[in-house]
Amino acid sequence: MYMYKVVGGQRLVGDICAGAAKNSALPVLAASLLSGGEVSIKLPDLSDVDDMLGILSCLGCRIKREDDIAVIDPSCADRWVMPEKLSKKIRSSIFMLGPILARNKNACFTYPGGCEIGLRPIDIHLSGLRQLGIDIEESSGMIHCRGNLIGARLHLDYPSVGATENLMMAGVLAKGETVIDNPATEPEIVDLARFLKSLGARIKGEGSSRIVIEGVKSLGSSAEVFCPISDRIVAGTLLAACAGCGGDIYVRDARAHDMTAIIHKLRQMGCQIIVSDGIRIRSSGELSSFRDIATYPHPGFPTDMQAQMAAIACVARGTSSITENVFENRFGYVNCLKKMGADISVHGRTAIIRGVKSLEGAKIEARDLRGGAALTIAALAAKGESEIGGVEYIDRGYSGFENMLSSLGADIKREICTKRCL
Ligand code: EPZ
Repeated sequence: MYMYKVVGGQRLVGDICAGAAKNSALPVLAASLLSGGEVSIKLPDLSDVDDMLGILSCLGCRIKREDDIAVIDPSCADRWVMPEKLSKKIRSSIFMLGPILARNKNACFTYPGGCEIGLRPIDIHLSGLRQLGIDIEESSGMIHCRGNLIGARLHLDYPSVGATENLMMAGVLAKGETVIDNPATEPEIVDLARFLKSLGARIKGEGSSRIVIEGVKSLGSSAEVFCPISDRIVAGTLLAACAGCGGDIYVRDARAHDMTAIIHKLRQMGCQIIVSDGIRIRSSGELSSFRDIATYPHPGFPTDMQAQMAAIACVARGTSSITENVFENRFGYVNCLKKMGADISVHGRTAIIRGVKSLEGAKIEARDLRGGAALTIAALAAKGESEIGGVEYIDRGYSGFENMLSSLGADIKREICTKRCL
């Protein structure tokens, strides 16, 4: 177990890269099962990525890793039972259902289970697969799917990111045409389609309110290394950290077009943001409230950034509110912010934050990925020293987060944590 030791108060200055997007790399790894031969993918160094590669290996894929490139050969991937310990370990295992069914006409899974941020049901995934001709039996926590995928016209009750990815991958090798109305339009959906089309898939409308997929008999392989888009949430987290600490950083690979809601709110707080190939932010550290944030599916404000914005709202002038509309339990970080002196209270799905002059360092514990990033941002902006336990959560979505921050001037170190830090 690891913890961060942080001494707050340092300004952040310099250039940094966010790196490849976790939420693009994970579905692209699942999609590698559909390829007709070897594929090479550039991957971020994250524990979720390692777990996903572990699942692919359990299913029979041959995997070679050379630095940050994984070469995956799915030609012997004839297993279709998902190992329980792995499917429960990462939620994103659920969107392997589509590719496994497309390959084997069978798939057997345990429910991926909920996590700190909510129940995270999979009814939209299963309803879509049933409409694509799949028989699904659910008994004692196991899901057994079987059948031939036949194209259909689908309408998602909610624009679920994972369900869109699952059903898009299922449609690629289905017989006939599949239409997905009301899909998710996140940039990672468009990136997954880019990967599938590089293998010969016929997809149109990705990123819009209707995706049309013409099923093909098989996909080819690609000699090109596929490089996922940069991680807009890691980029947004770095921008928020600089906003809270004060400073001047340039995130070289940030894609401003994908981050308009985040940029808008940081400007509302008084940050100067210059968009070029990447994104530059200048902040005095003296912030104003962003008044209110409500999270919605893309292009609304991303739920994966609300915790980080709450952290800097704690030291902004005025009152801010955050309403979490996507997940039902995503304020797990609030008590730790209170321990640091924040004036924050949660009423149902809304957190009300009254800015204070400064936060004080404390011993705190991360309980989920983005909440852990938020606590780190708060510690960087706080007076004095903090110890943050639960860094393994942060490692799921940030590759060497402490190294990124210390390269910008933060006083942060990773240390072995012998006991829970609370
Ligand atoms: C993806 O999760 C991301 N994960 C999440 O990022 C992100 O927060 C989320 O999309 C929303 O943008 C990956 O891409 C690996 P959803 P996913 O299906 O696919 C409900 C992070 O921090 N729902 O869009 O699980 C669900 O309960 C992670 O990087 C159903 O009700 O999100 C939730 O309330 C966290 N039934 C809402 O929809 C379903 O069948 C959004 O879920 C599916 C979802």
